[in-house]
Amino acid sequence: MYKDDFFIHQAQTSPHPLGLEVSHAKGSYIYDQEGKAHLDFVAGVSACGLGHGHPRVIGAIKEQVEKYMHVMVYGEYVQRPAVEFTKLLAAHLPKTLETTYLVNSGTEAMEGAIKLARRHTGRSQIIAANHAYHGNTMGSLSLMGYEERKSAFRPLIPDVRFINFNVAEDLDKITEKTAAVVLETIQGGAGFILPENRYLEKVRKRCDEMGALLILDEIQPGFGRTGKLFAFEHFNCVPDILVIGKGMASGLPVGAFVASKEMMAQLQHSPKLGHITTFGGNPVIAAASLSTLQELTETDLISQTLEKENLFRKLLVHPLITEVRGKGLMLAAMLETRKVADYLILEAAKRGLILFWLLFEGRAARISPPLTISMKEIEAGCDLIITILNEYKPDTVN
Ligand SMILES: Cc1ncc(COP(=O)(O)O)c(C=O)c1O
Repeated sequence: MYKDDFFIHQAQTSPHPLGLEVSHAKGSYIYDQEGKAHLDFVAGVSACGLGHGHPRVIGAIKEQVEKYMHVMVYGEYVQRPAVEFTKLLAAHLPKTLETTYLVNSGTEAMEGAIKLARRHTGRSQIIAANHAYHGNTMGSLSLMGYEERKSAFRPLIPDVRFINFNVAEDLDKITEKTAAVVLETIQGGAGFILPENRYLEKVRKRCDEMGALLILDEIQPGFGRTGKLFAFEHFNCVPDILVIGKGMASGLPVGAFVASKEMMAQLQHSPKLGHITTFGGNPVIAAASLSTLQELTETDLISQTLEKENLFRKLLVHPLITEVRGKGLMLAAMLETRKVADYLILEAAKRGLILFWLLFEGRAARISPPLTISMKEIEAGCDLIITILNEYKPDTVN
């Protein structure tokens, strides 16, 4: 219905968008214009943790829209939803992460975190990891550990170095020149790679020795996806700056960076207005964030993710699946080849199951459903995956 105009008037980011024409979405399903239900194993790329149209979130948004929407730029007026959200978030984080700066997207949160680290340390060097993804604005892009996707946009911000994730020997690159080390707690685009052998503890120790800050990007694993509210809780490592977004507002655009009150205060002076934004802390989005966090912390949805992970692991057994990577409901089915992954994702799309690619790992099929997904829905989706793989013929052309 809108497809022709979509291709003409809406800028595209890839030559082959999936192009599902959305009518509406509810729970674990997205409905197309013909009324067909598509079981959602992607959740807006980990953004819709509570599924589509969660009544508590919708209620909070409606209530707030009717009271007021945008009234002032960030940080000038006292607006209940943002205050309550940041207070509740602090109550669920270590004491050193007590002050939150609210912005509009994950990449913008990363920009703020980089600025804060440089401002706080007076140093310029940032260390990131190969195959990392932190967003697409110039600062975040500079930290992306994948040259092919960024070389066209050079020059990027200077003084960025790279280490290999999980390689302890590389940590001596962190020195007294380093302002911050920026890592995804679990590498997403690289293929849902977990830190191993106390890696994050080792990074933390080296940062402390060198006076460098540790910034953890939890934009993807955060808000309950891995069985804890934040993934760093699994790894005995507390960052100096925590970067969050995606699932935070159940599908509204959002991001934030969190640090100590003392560190964050530095954005107020020398120069003042050290980071500013018009819409950051928007009351409607903050109301969605508050209701999302309340739902996550007042129910057992987060602990259920581990039972659901077990079910996925039990059902996703097939000769073409070499491994299931990840934690909780941040999973990737690793296929034998990139061709099998493409076949599975595209064939599933035709048959009403939404899967997706990872940014840099072509052999993966992303499985990051809403945390609210039911065991029956998991079984139905996994059944379909196995059926599709059983029908795979090596000469199949996608
Ligand atoms: C780990 C990570 N960091 C940063 C971002 C960027 O967030 P946004 O797309 O909201 O700017 C993403 C988005 O996919 C992400 O997965």
